[in-house]
Amino acid sequence: MISVGIVGASGYTGLELVKMLINHPRFVLKYLATTSGDTVIEQLHPSLVDVISYPVEKASVESVVENCEIVFLALPHKASMGFAKDLIKQGVKVVDLSADYRLDLDTYEEYYCEHEDKDNLDSAVYGLIEYYREELKTAKLVAGPGCYPTATLLGILPFIPYIDTSIPLFVDAKSGVSGAGKKLSETTHFVTVNDNIFAYNPLKHRHAPEIAQKIEKIHSAKMSVNFVPHLIPATRGELVSVYAVLKKDIDPIKVLKKHYENDSFIRIREKPVDIKSTAGTHFCDIFASKNGNALFVNSAIDNLLRGASSQALVCANLMCGFDEGMGIPTISYVP
Ligand SMILES: NC(=O)c1ccc[n+]([C@@H]2O[C@H](COP(=O)([O-])OP(=O)(O)OC[C@H]3O[C@@H](n4cnc5c(N)ncnc54)[C@H](OP(=O)(O)O)[C@@H]3O)[C@@H](O)[C@H]2O)c1
Repeated sequence: MISVGIVGASGYTGLELVKMLINHPRFVLKYLATTSGDTVIEQLHPSLVDVISYPVEKASVESVVENCEIVFLALPHKASMGFAKDLIKQGVKVVDLSADYRLDLDTYEEYYCEHEDKDNLDSAVYGLIEYYREELKTAKLVAGPGCYPTATLLGILPFIPYIDTSIPLFVDAKSGVSGAGKKLSETTHFVTVNDNIFAYNPLKHRHAPEIAQKIEKIHSAKMSVNFVPHLIPATRGELVSVYAVLKKDIDPIKVLKKHYENDSFIRIREKPVDIKSTAGTHFCDIFASKNGNALFVNSAIDNLLRGASSQALVCANLMCGFDEGMGIPTISYVP
């Protein structure tokens, strides 16, 4: 058994990790922490009462090193790199769910804040499993992809060789409110979100450069990515619609099926996808169609799982030499 820990156990993604790790056949949960600690996990998450009881400590590098071979950092950006740099130094493997290791230095500092762990930035492996599987097997530090970039990239990457990359890409994305974490704000207040839908940070969201950078890294194609996220009155789930212009005549479904023929957590659908079918699972469902040279790509994920925690757990499975599907949820919350 391999000892694992979660720093940020009181948050939404922290809870998802707890739920998967308590049933994992090869990982044993040895350490849970938050900013202040001094509590138990079932106090922070009452849904766990009579399921598990586990102490939650005030987060410290020393305790992680003492207890864990691998740790998940389910923390806001900036807080993550504060821990990661010392943990890496002391030989603990790190899967970071925040944005701290996803981007190159200049882009990170333009969109987030000053980077405090420049030394490890280049060695971090981007945790988009289907594209970085081999690198993940030997990674010491993994940068968990953003939820919107996960759904967008899994949908559009197979088509990059067939689209006109000189034409801007348009990404219309919709997310359930858990994508913003547990902290309440005016935007995520029930009264603002209920019976409502609205765009936020159109064309300026931090996930646009992440999408553009990974398209460039994986396909050597520089594209203008125009990304517009919307908040929808749902707890979890993300639906992405991408619009692009084809330069070659292709059958979009055939392209997808061929591209992902060996990837068991990508489901190619014959009709437009929905968020409910993936809620509670690690699946990314993808559909695509065309009208002349206009391409429509449609993908859906659970933001808390494929967009964060189950993706992080698959990375950890690979880093430890386990089957990537070990302990990964596949049954959705339908109806
Ligand atoms: N939500 C999603 O769908 C999603 C998807 C992809 C990636 N992510 C990323 O994953 C990370 C976690 O997201 P989340 O939605 O789980 O956020 P969240 O619900 O706000 O939880 C954040 C957690 O971080 C803890 N924390 C904050 N600062 C800390 C510190 N200095 N030391 C120890 N613990 C600290 C908080 O603990 P306290 O209770 O003590 O404050 C809380 O448990 C974020 O970087 C987010 O961007 C989230």
